[in-house]
Amino acid sequence: MDIPVLHRLALNESPYPPLPSVRRAMQRAVAQAHRYPQFHPDDLTERIAAWCQVTSDRVMVGSGSVGVALQLLRTVVRPGDAVAYGWRTFDAYPLLATMVGAHPVPVPLSPDGHQDLGALLAALDHRTRVVVLCNPHNPTGSLITADILSAFLRQVPRHVTVLLDEAYVEFARHSALPDTHALLDSHPNLLVLRTFSKAYGLAALRVGYGLGVPDLVARIRRQQLPFGINAVATAAVKASLRAGSELRRRVDAVVAERERLRHGLLDLGWRVHPSHANSLWLHAPDPVDEGAMALTAAGVQARHYPGEGLRVTIGSREANDAVVAALASVGRPEASDRRAPNAPADEAVSAYLRVSG
Ligand SMILES: Cc1ncc(COP(=O)(O)O)c(C=O)c1O
Repeated sequence: MDIPVLHRLALNESPYPPLPSVRRAMQRAVAQAHRYPQFHPDDLTERIAAWCQVTSDRVMVGSGSVGVALQLLRTVVRPGDAVAYGWRTFDAYPLLATMVGAHPVPVPLSPDGHQDLGALLAALDHRTRVVVLCNPHNPTGSLITADILSAFLRQVPRHVTVLLDEAYVEFARHSALPDTHALLDSHPNLLVLRTFSKAYGLAALRVGYGLGVPDLVARIRRQQLPFGINAVATAAVKASLRAGSELRRRVDAVVAERERLRHGLLDLGWRVHPSHANSLWLHAPDPVDEGAMALTAAGVQARHYPGEGLRVTIGSREANDAVVAALASVGRPEASDRRAPNAPADEAVSAYLRVSG
Protein backbone atom coordinates (compact mmCIF):
# COMPACT_ATOMS: atom_id res chain seq x y z
CA MET A 1 0.00 0.00 0.00
CA ASP A 2 1.33 3.45 -0.92
CA ILE A 3 1.88 5.69 2.09
CA PRO A 4 0.59 9.22 1.46
CA VAL A 5 3.22 11.97 1.46
CA LEU A 6 2.36 14.44 4.23
CA HIS A 7 5.56 16.49 4.21
CA ARG A 8 7.67 17.20 1.13
CA LEU A 9 11.19 17.67 2.43
CA ALA A 10 13.17 16.21 -0.49
CA LEU A 11 13.92 19.17 -2.77
CA ASN A 12 15.04 21.99 -0.48
CA GLU A 13 11.93 24.00 -1.29
CA SER A 14 10.46 26.75 0.86
CA PRO A 15 7.63 25.57 3.14
CA TYR A 16 5.78 28.84 2.38
CA PRO A 17 3.53 29.47 -0.63
CA PRO A 18 3.91 32.86 -2.39
CA LEU A 19 2.92 35.95 -0.35
CA PRO A 20 -0.53 37.42 -1.12
CA SER A 21 1.10 40.48 -2.76
CA VAL A 22 3.15 38.18 -5.00
CA ARG A 23 0.09 36.12 -5.91
CA ARG A 24 -1.83 39.26 -6.86
CA ALA A 25 1.03 40.37 -9.13
CA MET A 26 1.05 36.94 -10.77
CA GLN A 27 -2.72 37.06 -11.33
CA ARG A 28 -2.41 40.45 -13.03
CA ALA A 29 0.29 39.00 -15.30
CA VAL A 30 -1.84 35.93 -16.09
CA ALA A 31 -4.60 38.25 -17.35
CA GLN A 32 -2.08 39.53 -19.94
CA ALA A 33 -0.82 36.10 -20.96
CA HIS A 34 -1.65 36.65 -24.63
CA ARG A 35 1.27 39.13 -24.75
CA TYR A 36 4.94 38.15 -25.09
CA PRO A 37 7.38 38.95 -22.31
CA GLN A 38 10.40 41.13 -23.18
CA PHE A 39 12.66 39.67 -25.89
CA HIS A 40 15.51 39.79 -23.38
CA PRO A 41 14.63 40.32 -19.70
CA ASP A 42 16.15 43.82 -19.52
CA ASP A 43 13.66 45.34 -17.04
CA LEU A 44 13.99 42.43 -14.66
CA THR A 45 17.78 42.53 -14.99
CA GLU A 46 17.78 46.21 -14.05
CA ARG A 47 15.52 45.61 -11.05
CA ILE A 48 17.71 42.80 -9.77
CA ALA A 49 20.86 44.88 -10.33
CA ALA A 50 19.41 47.83 -8.40
CA TRP A 51 18.42 45.49 -5.58
CA CYS A 52 21.96 43.98 -5.54
CA GLN A 53 23.42 47.51 -5.77
CA VAL A 54 25.46 46.77 -8.87
CA THR A 55 25.25 48.09 -12.42
CA SER A 56 23.01 46.04 -14.73
CA ASP A 57 25.94 45.02 -16.95
CA ARG A 58 27.05 42.77 -14.06
CA VAL A 59 23.80 40.79 -13.92
CA MET A 60 22.22 38.19 -16.17
CA VAL A 61 18.93 36.40 -15.61
CA GLY A 62 18.17 32.81 -16.60
CA SER A 63 15.67 29.99 -16.32
CA GLY A 64 16.51 29.17 -12.71
CA SER A 65 20.11 29.32 -11.58
CA VAL A 66 20.50 26.00 -13.35
CA GLY A 67 19.66 27.80 -16.61
CA VAL A 68 22.33 30.41 -15.89
CA ALA A 69 24.83 27.62 -15.16
CA LEU A 70 24.07 26.01 -18.53
CA GLN A 71 24.52 29.34 -20.31
CA LEU A 72 27.92 29.77 -18.66
CA LEU A 73 29.01 26.26 -19.65
CA ARG A 74 27.85 26.84 -23.22
CA THR A 75 29.93 30.03 -23.25
CA VAL A 76 33.24 28.71 -22.00
CA VAL A 77 33.29 24.92 -22.51
CA ARG A 78 34.13 23.11 -25.74
CA PRO A 79 33.58 19.37 -26.25
CA GLY A 80 36.40 17.41 -24.58
CA ASP A 81 37.06 20.07 -21.92
CA ALA A 82 36.62 19.25 -18.24
CA VAL A 83 34.28 20.55 -15.52
CA ALA A 84 35.31 19.87 -11.91
CA TYR A 85 33.10 19.90 -8.80
CA GLY A 86 33.04 18.48 -5.30
CA TRP A 87 30.97 15.29 -5.17
CA ARG A 88 28.43 14.75 -3.89
CA THR A 89 26.71 17.94 -4.97
CA PHE A 90 23.58 19.25 -6.68
CA ASP A 91 22.64 16.54 -9.22
CA ALA A 92 22.45 18.96 -12.14
CA TYR A 93 26.20 19.59 -12.39
CA PRO A 94 27.25 16.25 -13.92
CA LEU A 95 24.25 16.47 -16.26
CA LEU A 96 25.05 20.00 -17.41
CA ALA A 97 28.69 19.06 -17.99
CA THR A 98 27.61 16.14 -20.15
CA MET A 99 25.12 18.30 -22.05
CA VAL A 100 27.96 20.54 -23.29
CA GLY A 101 30.21 17.57 -24.13
CA ALA A 102 32.58 18.08 -21.20
CA HIS A 103 34.19 15.43 -19.01
CA PRO A 104 32.71 15.64 -15.52
CA VAL A 105 35.47 15.54 -12.86
CA PRO A 106 33.91 14.73 -9.48
CA VAL A 107 36.24 15.32 -6.51
CA PRO A 108 35.17 13.58 -3.27
CA LEU A 109 34.09 15.73 -0.34
CA SER A 110 36.18 15.55 2.81
CA PRO A 111 34.78 13.17 5.47
CA ASP A 112 33.18 16.09 7.34
CA GLY A 113 31.10 17.09 4.30
CA HIS A 114 33.21 20.02 3.09
CA GLN A 115 34.28 20.55 -0.49
CA ASP A 116 37.94 19.58 -0.52
CA LEU A 117 39.43 22.74 -2.03
CA GLY A 118 43.00 21.40 -2.03
CA ALA A 119 41.91 18.31 -3.98
CA LEU A 120 39.82 20.45 -6.33
CA LEU A 121 42.84 22.64 -7.10
CA ALA A 122 44.93 19.54 -7.71
CA ALA A 123 42.26 18.25 -10.15
CA LEU A 124 42.46 21.35 -12.40
CA ASP A 125 44.55 20.96 -15.55
CA HIS A 126 44.85 22.44 -19.04
CA ARG A 127 41.52 20.83 -20.04
CA THR A 128 39.54 22.29 -17.14
CA ARG A 129 37.29 25.19 -18.09
CA VAL A 130 34.98 25.39 -15.07
CA VAL A 131 35.23 24.52 -11.39
CA VAL A 132 31.96 24.57 -9.45
CA LEU A 133 31.76 25.47 -5.76
CA CYS A 134 28.47 25.46 -3.84
CA ASN A 135 28.35 27.79 -0.89
CA PRO A 136 26.58 26.74 1.29
CA HIS A 137 26.98 23.24 -0.04
CA ASN A 138 24.22 20.90 -1.17
CA PRO A 139 23.66 18.33 0.34
CA THR A 140 25.82 18.78 3.44
CA GLY A 141 25.08 22.43 4.28
CA SER A 142 28.79 23.11 4.90
CA LEU A 143 30.24 26.58 4.35
CA ILE A 144 33.41 27.92 2.73
CA THR A 145 34.43 30.95 4.76
CA ALA A 146 35.73 34.22 3.29
CA ASP A 147 39.44 33.59 3.91
CA ILE A 148 39.29 30.08 2.48
CA LEU A 149 37.42 31.21 -0.62
CA SER A 150 39.87 34.06 -1.25
CA ALA A 151 42.84 31.71 -0.91
CA PHE A 152 41.20 29.30 -3.36
CA LEU A 153 40.39 32.01 -5.92
CA ARG A 154 43.97 33.29 -5.82
CA GLN A 155 45.21 29.85 -6.86
CA VAL A 156 42.74 29.01 -9.62
CA PRO A 157 44.37 29.52 -13.05
CA ARG A 158 42.76 32.27 -15.14
CA HIS A 159 41.69 29.87 -17.89
CA VAL A 160 39.30 28.24 -15.40
CA THR A 161 35.98 29.96 -14.61
CA VAL A 162 34.82 29.56 -11.01
CA LEU A 163 31.06 28.96 -10.84
CA LEU A 164 30.15 29.88 -7.28
CA ASP A 165 26.64 28.58 -6.64
CA GLU A 166 25.05 30.57 -3.82
CA ALA A 167 21.53 29.11 -4.13
CA TYR A 168 21.29 28.87 -0.32
CA VAL A 169 23.26 31.94 0.73
CA GLU A 170 20.28 33.72 2.31
CA PHE A 171 20.12 30.96 4.96
CA ALA A 172 23.76 31.41 6.04
CA ARG A 173 24.33 33.40 9.22
CA HIS A 174 28.08 32.88 9.70
CA SER A 175 30.14 35.99 10.49
CA ALA A 176 32.82 34.84 8.00
CA LEU A 177 30.41 34.50 5.06
CA PRO A 178 32.26 35.66 1.90
CA ASP A 179 31.29 39.04 0.45
CA THR A 180 31.16 37.80 -3.11
CA HIS A 181 30.33 41.20 -4.65
CA ALA A 182 33.67 42.46 -3.37
CA LEU A 183 35.48 39.52 -5.01
CA LEU A 184 34.15 40.07 -8.52
CA ASP A 185 36.49 42.91 -9.55
CA SER A 186 39.65 41.10 -8.54
CA HIS A 187 38.45 37.81 -10.10
CA PRO A 188 37.17 38.30 -13.65
CA ASN A 189 36.90 34.49 -13.92
CA LEU A 190 34.23 34.34 -11.17
CA LEU A 191 30.50 33.94 -11.79
CA VAL A 192 28.19 33.95 -8.76
CA LEU A 193 24.84 32.16 -9.10
CA ARG A 194 21.75 33.11 -7.10
CA THR A 195 18.14 32.02 -7.30
CA PHE A 196 14.58 32.99 -6.43
CA SER A 197 13.72 29.29 -5.96
CA LYS A 198 14.85 28.81 -2.37
CA ALA A 199 14.68 31.71 0.11
CA TYR A 200 12.18 33.54 -2.13
CA GLY A 201 9.99 30.48 -2.54
CA LEU A 202 9.41 30.71 -6.32
CA ALA A 203 10.84 27.35 -7.38
CA ALA A 204 8.07 26.64 -9.90
CA LEU A 205 8.67 29.89 -11.75
CA ARG A 206 12.31 29.25 -12.71
CA VAL A 207 14.19 32.50 -12.22
CA GLY A 208 17.84 32.67 -11.24
CA TYR A 209 20.60 35.17 -11.93
CA GLY A 210 24.35 35.42 -12.28
CA LEU A 211 26.72 38.15 -11.09
CA GLY A 212 30.07 38.70 -12.75
CA VAL A 213 32.29 41.29 -14.43
CA PRO A 214 30.69 42.97 -17.47
CA ASP A 215 32.86 41.17 -20.03
CA LEU A 216 31.96 37.68 -18.76
CA VAL A 217 28.28 38.64 -18.32
CA ALA A 218 28.09 39.99 -21.88
CA ARG A 219 29.51 36.73 -23.26
CA ILE A 220 27.06 34.60 -21.25
CA ARG A 221 24.12 36.76 -22.31
CA ARG A 222 24.74 35.76 -25.92
CA GLN A 223 23.39 32.33 -24.92
CA GLN A 224 20.12 33.86 -23.67
CA LEU A 225 17.00 32.27 -25.14
CA PRO A 226 14.76 34.99 -26.70
CA PHE A 227 11.51 35.42 -24.70
CA GLY A 228 13.06 32.91 -22.25
CA ILE A 229 11.84 34.42 -18.96
CA ASN A 230 8.07 34.30 -18.71
CA ALA A 231 5.94 37.29 -17.73
CA VAL A 232 4.23 35.67 -14.72
CA ALA A 233 7.61 34.78 -13.23
CA THR A 234 8.89 38.29 -13.94
CA ALA A 235 5.90 39.82 -12.11
CA ALA A 236 6.40 37.46 -9.16
CA VAL A 237 10.08 38.31 -8.82
CA LYS A 238 9.46 42.05 -9.01
CA ALA A 239 6.72 41.76 -6.34
CA SER A 240 9.05 39.64 -4.18
CA LEU A 241 11.74 42.31 -4.36
CA ARG A 242 9.15 44.80 -3.06
CA ALA A 243 8.29 42.42 -0.20
CA GLY A 244 11.90 41.96 0.92
CA SER A 245 11.37 42.42 4.65
CA GLU A 246 8.40 40.01 4.82
CA LEU A 247 10.44 37.40 2.96
CA ARG A 248 13.46 37.93 5.22
CA ARG A 249 11.25 37.16 8.24
CA ARG A 250 10.28 33.87 6.58
CA VAL A 251 13.94 33.01 6.01
CA ASP A 252 14.69 33.84 9.66
CA ALA A 253 11.92 31.43 10.68
CA VAL A 254 13.43 28.66 8.53
CA VAL A 255 16.85 29.29 10.10
CA ALA A 256 15.34 29.12 13.62
CA GLU A 257 13.59 25.84 12.71
CA ARG A 258 16.85 24.47 11.27
CA GLU A 259 18.58 25.02 14.60
CA ARG A 260 15.62 23.56 16.55
CA LEU A 261 15.51 20.46 14.34
CA ARG A 262 19.26 20.00 14.50
CA HIS A 263 19.24 20.06 18.27
CA GLY A 264 16.29 17.66 18.32
CA LEU A 265 18.28 15.22 16.19
CA LEU A 266 21.50 15.68 18.17
CA ASP A 267 19.49 14.87 21.31
CA LEU A 268 18.41 11.62 19.65
CA GLY A 269 22.09 10.77 19.06
CA TRP A 270 22.38 11.53 15.31
CA ARG A 271 25.55 13.27 14.22
CA VAL A 272 24.48 16.40 12.40
CA HIS A 273 27.07 18.99 11.45
CA PRO A 274 26.06 22.65 11.51
CA SER A 275 24.17 23.55 8.33
CA HIS A 276 24.19 26.93 6.62
CA ALA A 277 21.47 25.99 4.11
CA ASN A 278 17.75 25.11 4.44
CA SER A 279 18.46 21.42 5.03
CA LEU A 280 20.27 19.07 7.39
CA TRP A 281 22.57 16.22 6.41
CA LEU A 282 22.49 12.90 8.28
CA HIS A 283 25.23 10.59 7.17
CA ALA A 284 26.75 7.13 7.52
CA PRO A 285 27.80 5.43 9.74
CA ASP A 286 24.60 6.63 11.41
CA PRO A 287 21.70 4.39 10.30
CA VAL A 288 20.54 6.52 7.38
CA ASP A 289 18.82 3.68 5.48
CA GLU A 290 16.68 2.79 8.49
CA GLY A 291 16.07 6.50 8.98
CA ALA A 292 14.88 6.81 5.38
CA MET A 293 12.43 3.93 5.90
CA ALA A 294 11.12 5.45 9.12
CA LEU A 295 10.58 8.82 7.41
CA THR A 296 8.75 7.22 4.47
CA ALA A 297 6.53 5.27 6.87
CA ALA A 298 5.69 8.55 8.62
CA GLY A 299 4.75 10.23 5.31
CA VAL A 300 7.91 12.37 5.21
CA GLN A 301 9.63 12.59 1.83
CA ALA A 302 13.37 13.31 2.31
CA ARG A 303 16.28 12.86 -0.09
CA HIS A 304 17.90 9.48 0.53
CA TYR A 305 21.36 8.54 -0.78
CA PRO A 306 21.44 4.81 0.06
CA GLY A 307 24.28 3.82 2.37
CA GLU A 308 25.53 7.38 2.37
CA GLY A 309 23.20 10.00 3.75
CA LEU A 310 19.82 11.61 4.15
CA ARG A 311 19.13 15.22 3.30
CA VAL A 312 16.15 16.64 5.12
CA THR A 313 14.79 20.01 4.02
CA ILE A 314 13.67 22.32 6.81
CA GLY A 315 9.89 22.37 6.66
CA SER A 316 7.08 23.79 8.76
CA ARG A 317 7.26 23.26 12.55
CA GLU A 318 4.80 20.38 12.17
CA ALA A 319 6.89 18.74 9.44
CA ASN A 320 10.09 19.09 11.46
CA ASP A 321 8.38 17.57 14.51
CA ALA A 322 7.33 14.66 12.28
CA VAL A 323 11.00 14.16 11.31
CA VAL A 324 12.10 14.00 14.96
CA ALA A 325 9.27 11.63 15.86
CA ALA A 326 10.08 9.31 12.93
CA LEU A 327 13.82 9.26 13.57
CA ALA A 328 13.28 8.68 17.29
CA SER A 329 11.86 5.30 16.34
CA VAL A 330 15.18 4.24 14.73
CA GLY A 331 17.71 2.57 17.05
CA ARG A 332 19.86 5.20 18.74
CA PRO A 333 22.89 5.84 16.51
CA GLU A 334 26.17 4.63 18.04
CA ALA A 335 27.53 7.22 20.43
CA SER A 336 31.13 6.10 19.92
CA ASP A 337 33.55 8.13 17.77
CA ARG A 338 31.40 11.21 18.24
CA ARG A 339 33.26 14.48 18.09
CA ALA A 340 32.16 17.97 19.03
CA PRO A 341 29.87 19.12 16.19
CA ASN A 342 32.06 22.07 15.18
CA ALA A 343 35.40 20.33 15.36
CA PRO A 344 35.56 18.75 11.88
CA ALA A 345 34.83 22.02 10.06
CA ASP A 346 37.49 23.86 12.01
CA GLU A 347 40.03 21.12 11.34
CA ALA A 348 39.30 21.19 7.61
CA VAL A 349 39.64 24.98 7.53
CA SER A 350 42.98 25.08 9.31
CA ALA A 351 44.33 22.18 7.25
CA TYR A 352 43.44 24.00 4.04
CA LEU A 353 44.93 27.31 5.21
CA ARG A 354 48.13 25.51 6.22
CA VAL A 355 48.61 24.23 2.68
CA SER A 356 47.31 27.25 0.76
CA GLY A 357 48.84 30.05 2.85
C1 LIG B 1 23.13 24.03 -5.10
C2 LIG B 1 21.92 24.24 -5.96
N1 LIG B 1 22.00 25.09 -6.99
C3 LIG B 1 20.95 25.33 -7.78
C4 LIG B 1 19.74 24.69 -7.56
C5 LIG B 1 18.62 24.92 -8.53
O1 LIG B 1 18.16 26.20 -8.42
P1 LIG B 1 17.17 26.78 -9.51
O2 LIG B 1 15.81 26.39 -9.08
O3 LIG B 1 17.43 28.26 -9.40
O4 LIG B 1 17.54 26.27 -10.85
C6 LIG B 1 19.60 23.80 -6.52
C7 LIG B 1 18.33 23.11 -6.30
O5 LIG B 1 18.16 22.26 -5.48
C8 LIG B 1 20.73 23.57 -5.70
O6 LIG B 1 20.67 22.70 -4.68
